[in-house]
Amino acid sequence: MIKVAIFASGKGSNALQIIRHFEGNSAVKIALIVSSKKDAGVLDIAKEHQIPAITLDKNTFLSTNDYIEFLEIEGIDFIVLAGFLWKVPTGLIKAFPQKIINIHPALLPKYGGKGMYGHFVHEAVINAKEKQSGITIHYVDELYDHGAHIFQAFCDITEQDTPDSLAEKIHTLEHTHFPSVIEKVLLAN
Ligand code: GAR
Repeated sequence: MIKVAIFASGKGSNALQIIRHFEGNSAVKIALIVSSKKDAGVLDIAKEHQIPAITLDKNTFLSTNDYIEFLEIEGIDFIVLAGFLWKVPTGLIKAFPQKIINIHPALLPKYGGKGMYGHFVHEAVINAKEKQSGITIHYVDELYDHGAHIFQAFCDITEQDTPDSLAEKIHTLEHTHFPSVIEKVLLAN
């Protein structure tokens, strides 16, 4: 059984799709939700699905190994970042080499890096009058939005699109593809 932890900071719509996808799966278990915010919507989703959850403060996440030991004690094999907004520290990457993946709501390498998350990404894409955007699923390394790409999917942008409407298109792409891409990566590991 592969035990997965989902790290998320927001409402958790991707986490929900991933949880649903693996419900009843005998090879993969979503074993833990890790949040960076006490009031993140993803914590309600964890509760509804009876998945253990923890909230970390920034100092603990960036400057200690306590939670890494906790992940190891819990037998976590793999980490999925689904809207997690803090940069992953070296200690965590070393503890889970090639075992952390992230989803980014744009076509990396464009529109990535510090400050490029959620709505800010879609605003930048619309302001640049791009004709396409999409999603990138990639391994996490020590640089923001930088690790090897696993998967991309694209959507067209019309002149009527706004950051909000683009966000909806991107969420649809994410919900369609992220769970099955995770499954492929896990089963290939
Ligand atoms: C998703 O669109 C994800 O790609 C993005 O945050 C959103 C979380 O939505 N991640 C980033 O911007 C990371 N740089 P959700 O909480 O509904 O899953």
